[in-house]
Amino acid sequence: MLQKFDPKNNDLIVYVNGRLLPREEAKVSVFDSVVQGGDAVWEGLRVYNGRIFSFERHLERLWQSAHALHFADIPTKEVVREAVFKTLAANNMRDGVHIRLTLTRGEKITSGMDPRLNQAGCSLIVLAEWKPPVYPPEIRLVTSSVRRNNPMFLDSKIHHANLLNNILAKIEANHAGADAGIMLDKDGFVAEANGVNLFCVRKGEVLTPHAHACLPGITRGLVLEICTEWKIPSRETNLSITEFYTADEVFTTGTMGELTKVSEIDGRAIINRTKQSRLEEISKRFKRLTESSGTPLP
Ligand SMILES: Cc1ncc(COP(=O)(O)O)c(C=O)c1O
Repeated sequence: MLQKFDPKNNDLIVYVNGRLLPREEAKVSVFDSVVQGGDAVWEGLRVYNGRIFSFERHLERLWQSAHALHFADIPTKEVVREAVFKTLAANNMRDGVHIRLTLTRGEKITSGMDPRLNQAGCSLIVLAEWKPPVYPPEIRLVTSSVRRNNPMFLDSKIHHANLLNNILAKIEANHAGADAGIMLDKDGFVAEANGVNLFCVRKGEVLTPHAHACLPGITRGLVLEICTEWKIPSRETNLSITEFYTADEVFTTGTMGELTKVSEIDGRAIINRTKQSRLEEISKRFKRLTESSGTPLP
């Protein structure tokens, strides 16, 4: 699955450090930390029918990631919230929108790794694009040779822009003709796919890997909350790739693609030998959430 350029995004207005700029003028300095070291944190958000879905959860995760990386002068949630509202208003956007929100450690006074060279405060970028959910109804996955970080290396709970290991996993998936690469943790258990969390359903129970070596995705969290609320058995646990091959259902979760059915992993078809679909049940309830909740635009 390869995203295509949408001509509707030709004339975007982008927020960069307090300024609303046309797409071609929206730039950060070559001294910015994101250019120099991928030193930034980010969030992907969606706007449904005049409301930003799970906005407060995304603002909180952005703050937590920036604080964990010891950014100085992190903009308050009010500042970030206003920047997002202003960007959407400038583009006249109220539905069918994906927002890439990036906060970098900011501009350096000279090239170098030392965060003491960052003396201008953080850089805030709000990039909103016309973009419906990007995944097709069903996707195929392959297991990647690239392992997902656990807290021994770079904690996957920090949603940072240093995405090279995930990009390498995606390159392997592209070469294999699959839609995404499954990344295992250091012990060989499934962590997540390169840009989405993973779930499987076995004997009616909804299972997902512990968030030890994956991003604790907001969609993942909502799926677990839906299961609790509607008394669908669910659990976080260690899962091997074999347990995914032999599951009744496998699906991915993420803001970009919402909930997506996985039809095949490493050439093994995912065969539902039960008469029920937990995915359909949960997807219906998730859709209701996107239709009824979220922060209203001013
Ligand atoms: C590596 C990775 N896993 C999972 C997700 C899904 O997280 P969320 O549901 O918060 O969009 C993302 C989204 O950015 C991601 O980058």
